[in-house]
Amino acid sequence: MKDRLIVALDTYDLRKAEHLVDCLKDTVSTFKIGMELFYSVGPKAVEMVHDKGCRVFLDLKFHDIPNTVAGAARAAAKLGVFMFNVHAAGGSAMMKAAVEAAREVSGKQQKNLPKIIAVTLLTSIDEKNLKTEIGINKKVEQQVSEWAVLAQASGLAGVVASPREIQTIRNTCSSEFIIVTPGIRPSWAARGDQKRVMTPAEAIRLGADYIVVGRPIIQADDPQEAALKIMREMEEF
Ligand code: C5P
Repeated sequence: MKDRLIVALDTYDLRKAEHLVDCLKDTVSTFKIGMELFYSVGPKAVEMVHDKGCRVFLDLKFHDIPNTVAGAARAAAKLGVFMFNVHAAGGSAMMKAAVEAAREVSGKQQKNLPKIIAVTLLTSIDEKNLKTEIGINKKVEQQVSEWAVLAQASGLAGVVASPREIQTIRNTCSSEFIIVTPGIRPSWAARGDQKRVMTPAEAIRLGADYIVVGRPIIQADDPQEAALKIMREMEEF
């Protein structure tokens, strides 16, 4: 389970992020660097995690024309990240361009190909927003599943999905297609702004490959103890 729990370093402060990695590196192998930390301190954040012997999920959700996303994918692959993501809504040409660019860099530098995963529908979008603001008149589940299928056909390794979408994706995509799941709350942790949550054991039972946890670990008095508790729960599925 050490490799299946990803801790979100949701802070703007590199020293705080480093302190968290120091507390957790014997317990957890992968850290998520999102927009807050990356746009505050840049690639230094990725280098810091790598210097501690850990892996990075770079969560910058690329969404642009294929040529621009290919450039971003090249840069992420040069940094040697373990995983990064793009929006499925950018379309298949954009997703394929990301895969090709990352493959080219990883091949040249003899690095492992990063796992490129797609964000399907943001969990903050509900069916009403989908229809009235985005103009898509479909059930959330159907849209998520269509985008997951498109991501797989475009050569991506998996998707980020809410725990409630795991089953739908497992029914429509192959068993090797990775599912990374945020929105996880152990029973003892505050929900914060997460509305549709699941426990670590439930998400693993439903078929999540990786779970992403932020506040229940990084805001705990003892982050390592919180991570160990969550991993024990993941093992109890
Ligand atoms: O603190 P918490 O455990 O809620 O953090 C979850 C992390 O996963 C955050 O970094 C958040 O941005 C990210 N995330 C999410 N829901 C999504 C996509 C990403 O919570 N649909």
